[in-house]
Amino acid sequence: MEQKIKRKVVIDCDPGIDDSLALMLAVSSEELDIRGITIVCGNGPVDMGFGNAKKILNQMGRLDIPVFLGEERPLKRAYQDALDTHGADALGESFLPEVPGYENAQSAVDFLIAGAREGGLSIIALGPLTNLARMLERDREAFSMLEEIVSMGGSFRSHGNCSPVAEYNYWVDPDAAAAVYAAAGELGKEIAMVGLDVTRRIVLTPNVLSYMERMNPETGGFIGRITKFYLDFHWEQEKLIGCVINDPLAVAYFLDRSLCSGIRAYTQVETGGLSAGQTIVDAAGFYRREPNALILTETNPPRFFKLFLSRVLKIGERELEWLDFLPAVSRGFGIPQMGGEFGQ
Ligand code: RIB
Ligand code: CA
Repeated sequence: MEQKIKRKVVIDCDPGIDDSLALMLAVSSEELDIRGITIVCGNGPVDMGFGNAKKILNQMGRLDIPVFLGEERPLKRAYQDALDTHGADALGESFLPEVPGYENAQSAVDFLIAGAREGGLSIIALGPLTNLARMLERDREAFSMLEEIVSMGGSFRSHGNCSPVAEYNYWVDPDAAAAVYAAAGELGKEIAMVGLDVTRRIVLTPNVLSYMERMNPETGGFIGRITKFYLDFHWEQEKLIGCVINDPLAVAYFLDRSLCSGIRAYTQVETGGLSAGQTIVDAAGFYRREPNALILTETNPPRFFKLFLSRVLKIGERELEWLDFLPAVSRGFGIPQMGGEFGQ
């Protein structure tokens, strides 16, 4: 049987509860040759994210994967964490024991530059784009050598989650996001933007969580432990029964492109004022610029959950058939979508 070539990838993230679920999916997927995990300040301070990444790798038996410390603060703006959403430990206040050792001398940006220069490297970015922007500043040629960038961030027609128009990753460091999208345009690259338009459809509900825990008490129980805080947050904030797990969809899309579809468009990121962090998607071609982004607008939640539960929880194909009848969970009492009714 022909040996499928593994794709070289670095996961740049800010773990973070949904980042952690994304890491669990990535390390459970044999198609990926995960060269390393780079941490950026985001949901929690960078050293907290570094420790949380090690906790996830320890849980999944993958401490063979190196983790690298990245940027401590955004390029220009003051750093704003999201501990209110992810808990005081940025891992749902699970307060898991720290995983010792594992310090490495190389910084995340040095590691990204060296990895890009080897050729064939893709980045799955699940946090603010500060590390990528610093890489771009330091070595534009290395950045141009990246094979692909998939970024969880931004929002096209969906309501923002940090302002009416801005999504957290690009709101925290809009200058970094703007620089990365501008460079993609100049270098003829196309960023796959897995934004709130699609990730808001991926809602982990109590029934799916309960199924995970029943079918795989160890891993399902772990997921239940790190997501409880997040479920409570979503109920308090949006009266949603469940929690929006954004980041795993970016990994799932990297694994299976048929999971999402969208439009190609020239996209910029606003860096100042009321709409800082907003992704300005030129869907109508006003600027007559070549597309620098694939804006994903459609996805299939049942197929996502089938992939996640089969890979991470090792649940068999037949036992997953019921997921085809997953209710349209995103029709909770979610915050109003732009141009739509409540919870559409
Ligand atoms: O807006 C959601 C994104 O911001 C997710 O990646 C979450 O982990 C936070 O980083
Ligand atoms: Ca994240």
